[in-house]
Parts: sequence; C-alpha cells; structure tokens
Amino acid sequence: MTEIATRPDQGAINQTGAVINKDAYAQAQDFLPLKGIDYVEFWVGNARQASNYYRALWGYTPTAFSGLETKVRDRASYVMQQNDIRFVFTAPLTPNGEIAEHVAHHGDGVKDIAFSVDDVESAWRETTARGAVSVLEPTEIDGGEDGVLRRSAVRTYGDVIHSFIDRNDYHGAFMPGYRKIKNPAAAAGNLSLLEIDHCVGNVALGEMNKFVDYYRDVFGFSQLIHYDDKVIHTDYSALMSKVMTNGNGRIKFPINEPATGKKKSQIQEYLDWYLSSGCQHVALRTEDIVGTVRQLRENGIEFLGMPHEYYAALPDRVGDVGVPIDTLEELGIEADRDEEGYLLQIFTRPVQDRPTFFFEIIERHGSRGFGVGNFKALFEAIEREQALRGNL
Ligand code: FE2
Repeated sequence: MTEIATRPDQGAINQTGAVINKDAYAQAQDFLPLKGIDYVEFWVGNARQASNYYRALWGYTPTAFSGLETKVRDRASYVMQQNDIRFVFTAPLTPNGEIAEHVAHHGDGVKDIAFSVDDVESAWRETTARGAVSVLEPTEIDGGEDGVLRRSAVRTYGDVIHSFIDRNDYHGAFMPGYRKIKNPAAAAGNLSLLEIDHCVGNVALGEMNKFVDYYRDVFGFSQLIHYDDKVIHTDYSALMSKVMTNGNGRIKFPINEPATGKKKSQIQEYLDWYLSSGCQHVALRTEDIVGTVRQLRENGIEFLGMPHEYYAALPDRVGDVGVPIDTLEELGIEADRDEEGYLLQIFTRPVQDRPTFFFEIIERHGSRGFGVGNFKALFEAIEREQALRGNL
C-alpha cells in the first residue's frame, strides 16, 4: 500500500473559527485523476413521477430512459440534464432486489456519485489497493454501434457508491441499455442551474474522521476546511464538518457528523430517518440565484426561511453583495463573506417525505467557502422545522 503523508490541520483560522487549508488543492494526490462528477443517481420509489417533478418544477430535461421498453426488466431509469448537472432517477420494477430493499429501508436517496475518468481500470485498481471495497470490477459495457462504455465502482459511506465512468469510446444515450428521449415534454423555464458545486455526506457519530481519512488515503483528496462543534452550534445542537477536495478542486465533499448538544442534532435526525450514513444535500451552482429562486418558488419549491433579524444584521456582516437586502429577505437567500469574496446560498426543505435529502443553491463571487457565517442562523431555522416534525 502506498504511503501517503498525513496532513494535520495546519491552516489559518479565519475570523469565523473555521480552519482553512490554503494548500488543499496542491496537496491532493494525482494517482486518481478525476475529471468531475459524471452523474448523481437517486434510487426512488417512482422514477417516472420523480423525473416529472424535476422536469416541471426544477427545469431538468429528460434525455434518456431505460426500462421495460429497452428490455430492462428489473428497473426503470430516467436521465435528467440541466447544463452540466446530470441526475439519474431509478426505481425498482419488482419487490425484491437491491433497489427495492434500498428504497424500503432508506426512502428516496442518493445511491451513486459517479466520477468521470479516462481510465476506469486504473481508478479501480488504485482505490481498491488503498482499501476501497469493490462494487463493480472494471467492465466494458457493449453499446453496439454506439461504442463501448467502461465502468467500475467502489463503496463509500453508508450504501452510497462511487462509479468511475469512461465515455471516451461511447457515443450513445447515457449508457448502453438506455435510449434517447426524443421530443421530451418541456422543462420549466427561467432556471439556470449550471453544475454540482458540492455533495455533503452525513455519517454517524465518531465516523467523520474515518471517512475524511478514507477520501484522503483511498481517493487522494485533501482537507480544505475543518469546522468544529464550537463553530457549528446553536443553543441546542451541534455538528462537526470537514471538507475534502480533489486535486482540480472540481469535487468537494463536506463530511458531517452529529455532535452532542442539549437536543438532537439535525445530522442525527437525518441518520434516524435515513437509517444509515448517506448523502445529505447536493449544492447546485448558479450565476443567477435571484432569478432562479424566484422561479423555483413560483413553481412550488419550498425553502428554509430565515428570520427578519438575520437580514437586519446582514449589511454589517457582509457589506455589498450585489443584491438589495430586501430582495434577499423576500426570497430567503442568505449571504456570507470571507477573505476571498462572498457567496449567496439557499436551502430547500427535504424533497421527499422523510426529513433526509435536500438541495442547496449557491452563487459564488470569489468565496470558496460554504457559508459558515450562516450556519448558526441556518441551524436555528432547521431546528424550528425539526421541532414541528417532533424530532428535536
Ligand atoms: Fe452545502
């Protein structure tokens, strides 16, 4: 096994108390070149209805389908695309098997955060040699005249996996077994979600460092930021978080664990309802958060609300962020600033019945952070909703 130097938290502490490692990108190892996130696959109870929710409310276009009509007998999948964001929604067609069991146990949730690579064999060999558990050995999937798609996969936290996908020699719909959706119904307009900014994992108490080590040792990531429970807490509950990143900075994975407080951490609420570690939220980057959130609200998407006091204090905390404070308050958008710039962000309510997975929308202006200045107000907002659910 290759020896990798340990990298203790040696970054500067900024005024918010978060430890930022400025050399994180340079420290990431290059034994595993990842080009970016190829897709995120959700396993859900009803893929057809999920695809229409994401089309009609969120503006994703259905691009490919797999199921009975493509001779797949055990599952139905819809591929949904918006700019560089690609989601796959897969549901079981039978009561048995891993998809049905996954949905029965977890409810709807993220199954696969897939990486785009040039060499699935090397990616699989390098990660399994460093301790990753294999899910799929390097496989060539024959697409006939569309070419060959190569895939391998390994496990990460909970039941989540990371596939490695090489599309260099494949030119068909999403994957062999899928067909293109011609003339899809119109997607919701006026939305400009551009790419996945980060994907957050919630892991059990005491497991954050295990998975931080896992991303460092197995995937060659390095630690970008550390927030401890002195930073992220309210009067009632707390959590700890470390952010891992790959060498080109395109992949950012914050890992959260609950911390003990007077009441139940929101991370623990997630774990109690997802019944294992899992993906808590995916953040989607936009360059027009005001227009996008305004449209999403019109379409019926629900967001966490922040109190008026939050907005009253905002000008002193963040200065000019290019949007009138009244507009931020009207739409519920939050703002934060660090040494590098500022960001605007907002969080949806959970998007399925269980209080588990949700989305963030983020607009960055120089800041590479995650909105630590909003954590306290945000978590208080979450706790108000936890209390309404009887889970605080
Ligand atoms: Fe986030």
